[in-house]
Amino acid sequence: HPLDQLIMALPKTELHLHIEGSLEPEMMFALAQKNGVALPYADVDAVRAAYQFDSLQSFLDLYYAGASVLITEQDFYDLTWAYVLRAHADNIVHTEIFYDPQTHTARGIAFAVPLAGIRRALADALTQFGMTSKLILCFLRHLSEADGFATLEQALPYLSQIDGVGLDSSELGHPPSKFAALFARCAELGLPAVAHAGEEGPAAYIWEALDLLKSTRIDHGVRCTEDAALVARLAADRVPLTVCPLSNLKLCVVDDLAAHNLRTLLNAGLCAMVNSDDPAYFGGYLNTNLLACRAALDLNKAEIVQLILNSFEASWLSAEQKAAWQ
Ligand code: HPA
Ligand code: ZN
Repeated sequence: HPLDQLIMALPKTELHLHIEGSLEPEMMFALAQKNGVALPYADVDAVRAAYQFDSLQSFLDLYYAGASVLITEQDFYDLTWAYVLRAHADNIVHTEIFYDPQTHTARGIAFAVPLAGIRRALADALTQFGMTSKLILCFLRHLSEADGFATLEQALPYLSQIDGVGLDSSELGHPPSKFAALFARCAELGLPAVAHAGEEGPAAYIWEALDLLKSTRIDHGVRCTEDAALVARLAADRVPLTVCPLSNLKLCVVDDLAAHNLRTLLNAGLCAMVNSDDPAYFGGYLNTNLLACRAALDLNKAEIVQLILNSFEASWLSAEQKAAWQ
């Protein structure tokens, strides 16, 4: 399709990417062997065959099991560098990535280890490709707020290396309100916040993310269209929604990409854009997501350009950096 060339050629940002979700089965197997970690799969094909999800939780179970192969600083470097190469190939010029320190500290990995490996790869991305980045520490919402506070305590010596905080993992039953005190403390420390909300959870969780966590963006947020007053609020404040279409399809948030509400969000004046979420698990990186949406929703040129413009507007690049990409 003629617009596919445009999608691939345009410079883009990515704002919703879990680095642990970019762990491809080949690297998972190689690291398991190197580190002596047992995996419940015979081979790479068996891993891929297991990637059939019916909910967020069915994915998270495999995602956390997969992350158990990551042990050394070099492992986190290699993971992040592999993502950087794929992002560069997709013409991503700026990326804001999530990582889940609690997934690693719970296994006895020192807090500093993932941070150092990820940061070193992001520094190399800047020197080799001019690719800029931000790193967002995500708290796991299935754990307690006290566990989040303990993680924040461990992060204190490294705050200069952390650009913001997020909230991810099992959404249903773990509303943003559970973490109001933790996010208030993060705000005092000068850390901007984002939060996953309205992926599987109701529109009420998006209100809580905005009002209780002071979330500057909403990750996913696709269920906002169930509440007209919420859509009006998101539009009026240009609160970005970091939408992840292939993730929504693989986790059965939508039955069919053609039924995705991406266009509805754009038509409502929302600052929505496309992201890959956990590309190794959901079948594709950013361009694959954009190409799939173009085809399934018959997106036109103006809609594609709007999605890309929104990705820059919603980023944490400085006004000068944004202007330079216009
Ligand atoms: N939602 C919640 N938690 C996650 C996700 C997601 O899409 N990906 C990785 N952790
Ligand atoms: Zn996510």
